[in-house]
Amino acid sequence: MELVVDNVCKNFTNNKGTTLSVLENINLTIKKEEFVALVGPSGCGKSTLLNIVAGLMDSTSGQVYFSNVEKNRSPTMGIVFQDTGLFPWRNVYENIAFGLEAAHVPPNEQISIIHNYIELVGLTGFEKSFPHQLSGGMRQRVGIARALAINPDLLLMDEPFSALDAQARTIMQEELVSLWEKTRLSTLYVTHNIQEAVLLADRVVLLSRRPGKISRILTINLPRCDREKPENATIIAKFVDEIWQHISKDARAALLEVTDNG
Ligand SMILES: Nc1ncnc2c1ncn2[C@@H]1O[C@H](COP(=O)(O)OP(=O)(O)OP(=O)(O)O)[C@@H](O)[C@H]1O
Ligand SMILES: [Mg+2]
Repeated sequence: MELVVDNVCKNFTNNKGTTLSVLENINLTIKKEEFVALVGPSGCGKSTLLNIVAGLMDSTSGQVYFSNVEKNRSPTMGIVFQDTGLFPWRNVYENIAFGLEAAHVPPNEQISIIHNYIELVGLTGFEKSFPHQLSGGMRQRVGIARALAINPDLLLMDEPFSALDAQARTIMQEELVSLWEKTRLSTLYVTHNIQEAVLLADRVVLLSRRPGKISRILTINLPRCDREKPENATIIAKFVDEIWQHISKDARAALLEVTDNG
């Protein structure tokens, strides 16, 4: 099974009636067991594309679908948002249960699934804790466990670690690599952190700004587990530099615009 983004365009019309073309002719396929990172400057349309893929927003034209679907299956997606989107009134266990409840998994079957994912993301002992009692990194782990618990065909993540401090972020990136090796879910991962994209992804898709178009796709042809090895530092730095050279003009423009507005 693979996800196909077929010629997707998205326009927004503001309250003055001006139409803004945010995404233009986006074509992308996420293959089985592939981790794709979507990178681009602020405001280029990354979240818009992820929301369209998730079915949370309609595209203006074009379509998103799964191809090569096995018979009698309707593909599912797990989503991890930047702000985790946890329910504050539900504890860790109950938050992870949410997707399973929505999928009508019988409560007695939920128990072992939930405990399995709590263990996988390293939250054993925190089942009864509420979100406000957890650190940002732990909250993100709950968000990830909740997305994984439904055993989705596609995992969508929108800057899941951007609210974390640098150290927590590094730890979570490493944990995501080992978690991903265990699950090997097809993943679309949005970030504006180039280093993160190069460490995690099989392919890095660069999105340009105004309109958001795919300007380049890089294949990171180095095994994921070798990317942090000192002997590969130069290769990684080259990828990072190549991407930065490619998007820095757009990133500067985005920054100026933010400054102008603010
Ligand atoms: N509902 C909306 N109505 C009007 N314009 C919108 C809407 N959602 C997003 N936009 C505009 O579309 C553009 C892309 O927004 P989007 O949130 O997809 O960018 P992004 O790449 O995710 O940015 P960031 O890195 O800051 O999260 C922005 O200019 C934004 O202002
Ligand atoms: Mg965004």
